[in-house]
Amino acid sequence: MDLSKFIRNVEDFPKAGVQFKDVTPLLGNSEAMESCIEQLLALIGDQKIDKVAAIESRGFFFGTLLAQRLNAGFVPIRKPGKLPYKTLKEPYQLEYGLNALEIHEDAIKKGERVLLHDDVLATGGTARAACNLIEQLGGEIVQCNFLLEIEFLNGIQKLRKHSVQSLLKY
Ligand code: PRP
Ligand code: MG
Repeated sequence: MDLSKFIRNVEDFPKAGVQFKDVTPLLGNSEAMESCIEQLLALIGDQKIDKVAAIESRGFFFGTLLAQRLNAGFVPIRKPGKLPYKTLKEPYQLEYGLNALEIHEDAIKKGERVLLHDDVLATGGTARAACNLIEQLGGEIVQCNFLLEIEFLNGIQKLRKHSVQSLLKY
């Protein structure tokens, strides 16, 4: 199934000049969701995955579904102040200003094989920060896996060391 018809382009959101890729039409269609999960799983193939780590908030839509299908645990990587237990924190650059991501320090064990999932790869700052957290815990990143990639922003450059896969490219 061609999933691109379920991605809505919203101009000037959240601010002027940005072409926002809205995945809610896909989320709202069960057949498209089923196909999307199957296609994301096909990117992984038969590689063994111990943990799926996904990035708040839109990474959670598919992250837990992927974890279940892969018989893997799920690890939420969250915005600051959301995780209750001891965390590691990694700052990253936004278009304007800084943000940070956190992970529970016991979420991944040394040597575990981790799939990182998020909905969108844009500049790559978010995914890079998430990879740094996974690696600080000793996780081995098997693949960085996205629903879609905004190619001209060249986020893949920040993930050079890793295998990067996405279903749709814009
Ligand atoms: C969006 C998107 C990715 C990130 C990609 O998340 O869901 O996580 O930006 O951008 P980058 O590659 O330039 O770092 P956002 O921070 O808007 O938050 P959300 O997922 O909670 O909507
Ligand atoms: Mg996000």
